[in-house]
Amino acid sequence: MKEKSNTADSSLIDLRKFDCPINSLEIIKSIVSNQNVDKDAFYIVDLEDICNKHINWITRLPRVEPHYAVKCNTDAMLLKLLAFLGASFDCASKNEIQRVLDLGVAPHRIIFANPCKQASNVKYAYKVGVDYMTFDNEAELYKIKEHHPRAKCVLRIITNDEDAICRFSMKFGADMETSLKLIETAVELGIDLVGVSFHVGSGQMSPKAFTEAISNARQLFDYAREHFGLKLHLLDLGGGYPGSSDSGDFFSLIAREINAALDKHFPADYFRELNGTDDDDRKFRIIAEPGRYYACSAFTLCVNVIAKRVMNQSAAQQKHDADVLAKDEQQMNNAAAMCGYPVDASLVDPSKSIMYYINDGVYASFNCLFYDHAECLPILIQDHTESSKLYKSSIWGPTCDGLDVVVKECLLPELKTDEFMVFKNMGAYTISGAVAFNGIPLARCIYVASTSWDTIKNAFVDESIVDSESLAASGSPLLSTSLPSTMMMAASAASAAATAAASTSCALAARSMSIQLDDHIDNGCASDDSGDEAIKQLAKDVINEVEAKEDPLDVECAITC
Ligand SMILES: Cc1ncc(COP(=O)(O)O)c(C=O)c1O
Repeated sequence: MKEKSNTADSSLIDLRKFDCPINSLEIIKSIVSNQNVDKDAFYIVDLEDICNKHINWITRLPRVEPHYAVKCNTDAMLLKLLAFLGASFDCASKNEIQRVLDLGVAPHRIIFANPCKQASNVKYAYKVGVDYMTFDNEAELYKIKEHHPRAKCVLRIITNDEDAICRFSMKFGADMETSLKLIETAVELGIDLVGVSFHVGSGQMSPKAFTEAISNARQLFDYAREHFGLKLHLLDLGGGYPGSSDSGDFFSLIAREINAALDKHFPADYFRELNGTDDDDRKFRIIAEPGRYYACSAFTLCVNVIAKRVMNQSAAQQKHDADVLAKDEQQMNNAAAMCGYPVDASLVDPSKSIMYYINDGVYASFNCLFYDHAECLPILIQDHTESSKLYKSSIWGPTCDGLDVVVKECLLPELKTDEFMVFKNMGAYTISGAVAFNGIPLARCIYVASTSWDTIKNAFVDESIVDSESLAASGSPLLSTSLPSTMMMAASAASAAATAAASTSCALAARSMSIQLDDHIDNGCASDDSGDEAIKQLAKDVINEVEAKEDPLDVECAITC
C-alpha cells in the first residue's frame, strides 16, 4: 500500500493519503514493521469509512436527517467531516454545542437532545440560537420556559428497550399517559411544542422497537392535533443503529423496518395535507441521532504489549484448563478469530498462564467495557504460526488499578513483550470517555483517506491553503485546524454529494443528497444568491449525469459499506 504523505510533528494532525482502498489492518502492519516506530497506542481513523456510512444512511433512510450524537466520539476530524458531508448534530451539553458551533455549523443544525439539562446550559442554547431541545418532565418545561422562551420543544417518550445492550428507558422518556399531560402543560405554558422523540436504546437488537415507538409517536401527534389544534412537525428517531464493520446487513434491516413504519404512520402526503407547504418553519421533518453508526467501524486501535508475567500452573489448574477451557467452543472460536487461523483443543498447553499488560486500558479507550457493555478481543498481527501452543491468557491495562483488565480470560499463543495487537470497531464510546489516569497518554489518531480525499479535503483545509497536498509534499503541515467559510462548506457539500453519488453509482443517494443540499442552502449556510445557484446547478448537473448512467430505480445497487 503506497502512502502519499505524512507529517512527523506530533503537534500537527497526522493525515495520510493512500492510492488504494483503505485497509486499516494492513496500514497498521506497515506502520509497526518500522523498527523505529514508537510503541505508543494509536488509532487508525478511516475517513473513507465515515463517508461511506453517510452515503449508506442517506440512501437507506432518505427521509431521515442524521444528527450525529456527539457524545459517541468527539474527535474533531470526525465532527468536521460529518459537518462537511451535511450531517447535523445531537448535543448533550453546552460544551458539545460550543464544539459544534465552533466548526461553523449553523445553530439550526443542532438539537440539544438531553431531556434533563442544567439551567445555565439552556440559557446558553438561547444565547447562541440552538432552539430545538428535548424534555420528558414538567419541571424541565418550566425551566425551558424561563430560560429559553423561543425553544422548540420535543417530547421524549419511553420505549421498549429490553433488547438493547445499553438501556435508557429507566432514566429517560415519558410514558404515554404522562405524555398526554405534558402536551397539555406545554400548551398551557405557551411553549412551542414541535415534536416527539425517542431512543430505543443503544445497541438495539430488535428492529421492531423502532416500529412500536414510531406508532406511539403518531398517536401523540394525533392527540395534540385533535385536542389542541397543534401541528407537531418534528419526529426524532433517536439513536440505536449498529455501526460495527459487520453490521451492514442489520442496519439495512432496521432501515427497512423504519421506512415501512414511517410510510404507515407518517406518510408524506399526510403532512402535506396537514401542514401545507408554505410555512417552511413548520415543514415536517424526520431526524435521528445516530452515534455508534457513524463512529464505530472507522476507528481501529493498535496497542503494544508493554510487559508480561508468566505463571506456572498447579496440577489442579492444569487439569481444569484441559477439561474445561480447551473444550469451551466459544474460547476456541475466539482464539481462532484473534490468531487469524484455525485452532483446536490439541494446541492448548495448560502448563502455564500468561498475563499481558498493554498501553491502553479501561480508564482510556476501553472504558467502553464498563460504559458501553462492550466486549473487546484483539487481533494478533505479528509472527504466530498455526502450530503455536495456546496458553490461558489475560490482558491488562497500563494503570496501577486492579480493575484495569481488558480481557479477563482467553487463549493466545505466547506473545513477546513489545508485540503489537489490534482492536477493531473502537470508535464508539471509547475516546470520548477516556482520561489519562496514571499519566498514561491517550492513544493518538492517524487519519487515513484514499479516493475521496480530493472531495473531502476541503473539510479540513483553511481557505488560505490552496493545495494541501503540495504543502504536504514540501514538508509543511498537511492540515490546518480551521474550517472553510460557510460558503465554501456549502460548495464542498455539493461536490462531496456529487462525487460520493458518482462513486457509489447510486442515483438515489445523489437525489437525497441534493435534498439535503437544498436544505443546507435554504437555511442560510450559503451567503450569496449567485453562489447558491451555482451550487444547486452543480448538484443538479451531477445528479443528471449519474441518473443518465444508472437505473434510478436500482436502489440496492453498489452500496459500498
Ligand atoms: C439522546 C441520545 N441520542 C443519541 C444517542 C446515540 O446512540 P447510539 O450511539 O446508540 O446511536 C444517545 C446515546 O447515549 C443518546 O443518549
